[in-house]
Amino acid sequence: MEARPPVLVIAVVVALCGVSLCGVAAAGNVTAAQLFPTSSYDSYHGAPVTYNVKNYGAKGNGAADDTKALMAAWKVACAAAGTVTLQVPPGTYYMGPTQFHGPCQASSLTFLLQGTLKAATDLSRFGNDWIEFGWVKGLIVAGQNGATIDGQGASSWPFNKCPVRKDCKVLPTSVLFVNNENTVVKDIASVNSKFFHFALLQNKNTKMLNLRINAPGNSPNTDGIHIERCTGVVIADTKISTGDDCISIGQGNDNVDIQRVNCGPGHGMSVGSLGRYVGEGDVTRVYVKDMNFDGTMNGLRIKTWENSPTKSLAAHMVFENMVMKDVENPVIIDQKYCPYYNCEHKYVSGVTIKNITFKNIKGTSSLPVAVMLRCGVPCQGVVLQDFDIKYKGAGGTSSKCENAKAKYVGYMYPKPCP
Ligand SMILES: *[C@@H]1O[C@H](CO)[C@@H](O)[C@H](O)[C@H]1NC(C)=O
Ligand SMILES: *[C@@H]1O[C@H](CO)[C@@H](O)[C@H](O)[C@H]1NC(C)=O
Repeated sequence: MEARPPVLVIAVVVALCGVSLCGVAAAGNVTAAQLFPTSSYDSYHGAPVTYNVKNYGAKGNGAADDTKALMAAWKVACAAAGTVTLQVPPGTYYMGPTQFHGPCQASSLTFLLQGTLKAATDLSRFGNDWIEFGWVKGLIVAGQNGATIDGQGASSWPFNKCPVRKDCKVLPTSVLFVNNENTVVKDIASVNSKFFHFALLQNKNTKMLNLRINAPGNSPNTDGIHIERCTGVVIADTKISTGDDCISIGQGNDNVDIQRVNCGPGHGMSVGSLGRYVGEGDVTRVYVKDMNFDGTMNGLRIKTWENSPTKSLAAHMVFENMVMKDVENPVIIDQKYCPYYNCEHKYVSGVTIKNITFKNIKGTSSLPVAVMLRCGVPCQGVVLQDFDIKYKGAGGTSSKCENAKAKYVGYMYPKPCP
């Protein structure tokens, strides 16, 4: 998004820690068999066990509020040992803010969605997110049967002032994953989030596979997947059409691997924005390949604010095999990022950009400047290799650079900066 306020997201984590990490929510060692002796739990054989949310009061009729029933069912599943599935069968589950928190007993806990989760529209019910999966190890969130997470964002988008005001109140993110370890999210659609579709915060080893993410191209701050303070993220085989960044890699991430993602409409693939807040972490080891961009504002962008209060690093990244179709800024490093009209230009960005390779980038640009490298302190080790980006109309494309010191390899169109 253009005005991401991660401080608010951090505040959520601290607040959650107050509830969960620091004591109350843990389901302890009570087993499901103890709680529900008549369930299908089979402790002797250690067989996989499935809990159906409809047995815990969920209606799935699109009208009844299923928030409490889903949380009650989660609590039981979370307390069960072994290979556990929480089944959400076909139906439409209307829900307000819902927390699925661990720690859980299961060695593998699957949240199996076979229907639609539909968000309440009354904004006064929400904090910063709608559905939270947190403090779980070995969580699988899997869709079947056209599983959909519907944020019902259209009615709340008019209340979002973040695109124009720096001190805005954020709307709820559809699904927040926070402090999990070894998570897989697969085969699910997310539509019309009020704010971000998915946010990954402080997770270790997360795979996001075969997702369909959809919101109108003019919906505000509906980033597809936002990543912050995570290690080991894989995103693959996913299609993202939305109103803001397809994927945004925020501060403090290491080892992010993105493959076969189609993006558009939207603002493209973004590292950043970085360097806005105190204490931001480095972003390192980002590998992105085999993406298509169709009609997006940006293709590959690294953006950092000026006047950063903390020094940090954005380094060791490879972007390769990209096809751009009518993209405004196919490749852009912007270290003077500021989406507001009243930005100071006093200091250079405190974020150092280092060892970044863009390789095999082809297609068309919808603006004449197809490559923009606007560095603050000089970028170090930026390599551009094998580019062929034509202008979509008559005329050619060009490159623009500031403090870039880039190295060019192979065929280069647009031509390198002088
Ligand atoms: C839970 O574990 C504690 C310590 O391991 C034990 O004393 C207690 O009896 C257990 N409770 C149940 C319900 O198993
Ligand atoms: C540059 O980044 C790539 C990709 O992360 C990494 O494999 C390589 O070791 C880095 N090179 C240096 C000199 O750090």
